[in-house]
Amino acid sequence: MAILVPGGAGYIGSHTVVELLNNGYEVIIADNYSNSSPIAIERIKEITGKDVLAYNVDILNKEALNDIFEKHDIEAVLHFAAYKAVGESVEKPLMYYHNNIEGTVSLLEVMTKHNVKKIVYSSSATVYGTENASPLDETMPTYTATNPYGYTKIVNENLLKDVAYSDQEWGVTLLRYFNPIGAHESGLIGEDPKGIPNNLMPYITQVAVGKLKELSVFGDDYDTPDGTGVRDYIHVVDLAKGHVKALEELLDYTGTNIYNLGTGEGYSVLDLINAFEKATNKPINYKIVARRPGDVAEVYANPNLAQKEIGWKAEKTLEEMCQDSWRWQQNNPNGYVD
Ligand code: NAD
Ligand code: WQD
Repeated sequence: MAILVPGGAGYIGSHTVVELLNNGYEVIIADNYSNSSPIAIERIKEITGKDVLAYNVDILNKEALNDIFEKHDIEAVLHFAAYKAVGESVEKPLMYYHNNIEGTVSLLEVMTKHNVKKIVYSSSATVYGTENASPLDETMPTYTATNPYGYTKIVNENLLKDVAYSDQEWGVTLLRYFNPIGAHESGLIGEDPKGIPNNLMPYITQVAVGKLKELSVFGDDYDTPDGTGVRDYIHVVDLAKGHVKALEELLDYTGTNIYNLGTGEGYSVLDLINAFEKATNKPINYKIVARRPGDVAEVYANPNLAQKEIGWKAEKTLEEMCQDSWRWQQNNPNGYVD
């Protein structure tokens, strides 16, 4: 029996595949490399000393997906495949709705055909929108989003819940990630953004390595202790381990479960800059600029449900997140290149 991982070559997917392999699962990746590289697959093999099969497949291609399900005995799916750039989703909403929602429908149709009815879905804290106050918990309403990317997460959560409701053999786990940063401690896999990074940590590491001149801090007039935005940064390896715990539960479970994967701690932009400088001894040039449209003052999780139900808790410190992000950046200044 194998676990299918669409999007398994990407940032969070690749770290999760490592944890799955380390826990004895057979893993099959399906990725079209639209935002990743096949080099990540070689690195996964190097880290784990185990083999992993990877198909260059778009999840919108039902025929190709069907072939995978015919060839392999798939037990469950961990679905990471999606576009994820918030700003791009505002400019190209159709591209996001098509890939993220229709891709999920396509995957679910093929799963249904092959009677594979267990799925873990990569959702996001973005589904909490702007109206809920932190600490965010799973019972809060999720009907608003500030951008098309966020809507694709809300729509997919709802469509997965509907599928589980329609047929009681389905088991669905929605994992709402907070802000994943860090990298595997080997420095072999990590986040490899194309172009100028949108997210804070990859921007900081690229300033530190000299690829970018200066970080813009988006606003210092929020109602937070130092005025800059507060987020719940979580080490990507902790996040990956959360998937293994969620999968263990899901294999004996039907219905829908929803878990926040966060630390429960909020850190500001300046906290992250300071922690990075301290952990790496690299000074970060920055300037304060205007707020970024759509940002909220603070977002952090109540992570208790995941601890209670699946026995998962984030363990790594902010210092480790900074050190591991930096190791990955230093060892791979241009990301995954031959
Ligand atoms: P990523 O871009 O690194 O990984 C996504 C992977 O999916 C890539 O390898 C990409 O090539 C692949 N992909 C995209 N569309 C595909 C398609 N149609 N067919 C096959 N493969 C396809 O992103 P990530 O940060 O690893 O995110 C993984 C998942 O987690 C996404 O669903 C994302 O929305 C979600 N998420 C990410 C974050 C974050 O901050 N990184 C936060 C919350 C949720
Ligand atoms: C973090 C903080 C910024 C960049 C996004 C998505 C969310 C989820 C995770 C997928 C904020 C500040 C940032 C910079 C800055 N992704 N910042 N200068 O916005 O919390 O979440 O990624 O689901 O959906 O919206 O993450 O890393 O962009 O920002 O000052 O150059 O850093 O204002 O306070 P965010 P981020």
